[in-house]
Amino acid sequence: MNKSAKILFVGDIVGGLGKRTLLGLLPTLRERFALDFVVANGENIAGGMGITPKLADQLFAGGVDVITLGNHTYRQREIYAYLDERREILRPANFLRSQPGHGWCVVGRGGVRLGVVSLSGNLFMDAGRPLFAEADAALHALKGEADHVLVDMHAEATSEKVGIGWYLDGRVTAVVGTHTHVPTADARVLPGGTAYVTDVGMTGPRGGVIGVKRELAIEAMSTKMPIRFETSNVDPWLNAVLITASAQPLRAETIEQLLLPAAT
Ligand SMILES: [Fe+2]
Ligand SMILES: [Fe+2]
Repeated sequence: MNKSAKILFVGDIVGGLGKRTLLGLLPTLRERFALDFVVANGENIAGGMGITPKLADQLFAGGVDVITLGNHTYRQREIYAYLDERREILRPANFLRSQPGHGWCVVGRGGVRLGVVSLSGNLFMDAGRPLFAEADAALHALKGEADHVLVDMHAEATSEKVGIGWYLDGRVTAVVGTHTHVPTADARVLPGGTAYVTDVGMTGPRGGVIGVKRELAIEAMSTKMPIRFETSNVDPWLNAVLITASAQPLRAETIEQLLLPAAT
């Protein structure tokens, strides 16, 4: 059976402006690219920090199939129970088992099963368990359960992201990097057939400093004094990648960057 599919992966949604940017563009993108699956990183959607059940529900209602998270997962206490209850929202699989939530899920459309895995880097990040071993464990758990697998690699260090890309090449459909909020220019299909990009970027205000009002970020950096950050509302863009999953399971045909200003 033909297992090809079009997957849109959306980089970290920052604040209400990022949410409106995505939900405003999604109907057009769905039609234009005949999207089968939409996966979005939502770790910054609640005013830059974390996510609430209400915001997650809005993303699901707007057409997002799976929400991935990262180091900001637990900023909003009200999400804890939701993370245990709702299958399609993921925190990194290599967090401690005692922490709320789970790290992978499977969604289906048109006879194609897409597994999604959330992972956190260990370098300069606070994930409680080792990245590479837990990536293996997640793939083992998904064996036979999914036709395609997309991994959200949420990490600070580009070296660690490139490393996991090579480690998983030929074993998953796509490895897409998140967290640094700045898109990288290295999207490609690796020799083993895995679509890869070091960072997808963010969906939010390009006129700030990775989502924060630029005057506040600059003040904090220049004075070395604590500043209460607010999200910027200047120049919202969608940063995403479009992946064409191959007819053959666990392989990709193409990966293409989508960097688009918000619909006006
Ligand atoms: Fe983020
Ligand atoms: Fe992050």
